Amino acid sequence: MTFTPSRRETLLGAASLLAAAGCSQSAPAPSPSLASLAAEKGLKFGTAMNSRQLSDPRYIDLVLKECAVIVAENEHKMYTIQPSPDAMDFSRGDALAAFARENGLGMRGHTVVWHHPRWLPDWINNSVFGSAAEAEAELTRYINAVASRDQDVIYSWDVINEAVDDQTGELRETSYSRAMGGGAEVIDFCFRQTKEAAPNATLAYNDYMSWEPGTQNHRRGVLRLLEELKKRGTPIDALGIQSHSNYGMPDEFTAERKREWKAFVDEVVGMGLDIYLTEFDVNDTRLDPDPALRDRLIATYTEEYLGMMLDYPQTKDILLWGMVDKDSWLQTFLPRDDGVEKRPVPWDSDYQPKPMREAIARALKAAPAR
Ligand code: XIL
Repeated sequence: MTFTPSRRETLLGAASLLAAAGCSQSAPAPSPSLASLAAEKGLKFGTAMNSRQLSDPRYIDLVLKECAVIVAENEHKMYTIQPSPDAMDFSRGDALAAFARENGLGMRGHTVVWHHPRWLPDWINNSVFGSAAEAEAELTRYINAVASRDQDVIYSWDVINEAVDDQTGELRETSYSRAMGGGAEVIDFCFRQTKEAAPNATLAYNDYMSWEPGTQNHRRGVLRLLEELKKRGTPIDALGIQSHSNYGMPDEFTAERKREWKAFVDEVVGMGLDIYLTEFDVNDTRLDPDPALRDRLIATYTEEYLGMMLDYPQTKDILLWGMVDKDSWLQTFLPRDDGVEKRPVPWDSDYQPKPMREAIARALKAAPAR
């Protein structure tokens, strides 16, 4: 007996053929990726990624679907590359760069020198350089080795991270600054040396100053530093605004705080600098534990914050500090008192999108082209 398909089966078969060919009328259009929405406006969209996630197919899938760039969560930091003076280990940073290369992604380098004693290796903190020249020689050796690698994918470096004390606004003291006569000397030197080692990369100063209460000294200190660098002719292209909310909650981004924050960003772009949003996530430490409520507040804040920042044509990059909740650094760095899992990034721990993902899409769609 020959099998005769019913009319309904024939129609279904035709519909799936059309859908497979990408010309179905009824199938929902695939929603554009965040990377493509960003690219339409002249922006780059991406995420932090760590070398463990290189063996997580679900994470990789999200990165490849949504992102045009990655940044290493820890693999380009001095404490990973040279935790002790004996040897340098580039394997983990190179593995992430190779992943970027193989998949046609760009990469941001984070960070040449995290100018903060808490995050410098002990052997640097304990070094007593005999002179400025000795400290400069050590920085030159390190910078040349790090910034010259993987230049085909690394299009931008955070040359210096977090050099401004968030309480006083003064530059932090390190073994380098003690030898070189001050923090500004170290920072200026590192930018010039990175420029030599990676002449095609754009160079940023990266920090976590923000709109949050009590951050005025931090913002002032960063402006002072940027002014000083401009005066010295330091080759700096951009301010990296990490965009973590550390202690302020998403529902505390009040009109007054928006005004203060905007005044800060106006000053930065007024100096001729670009803006990179380098580490965006939203802290929900003190929000009501109800997940739906948190997701709503986080999405609202995301759209408002990114809306404001993307209105500046000087904003060029926007990177998340991770894509899925369970891997977010905030789960352990700033855990909730009630032990409930935090929801700081756009995908939940099952890799499903939350309202924050659509909020980013809306902000990108609303952004002016640059
Ligand atoms: C964090 C990483 O996410 C953690 O895994 C690590 O233990 C500490 O550093 N600002 C920065 C990033 O510039 O480098 C930090 O990354 C998060 C805050």
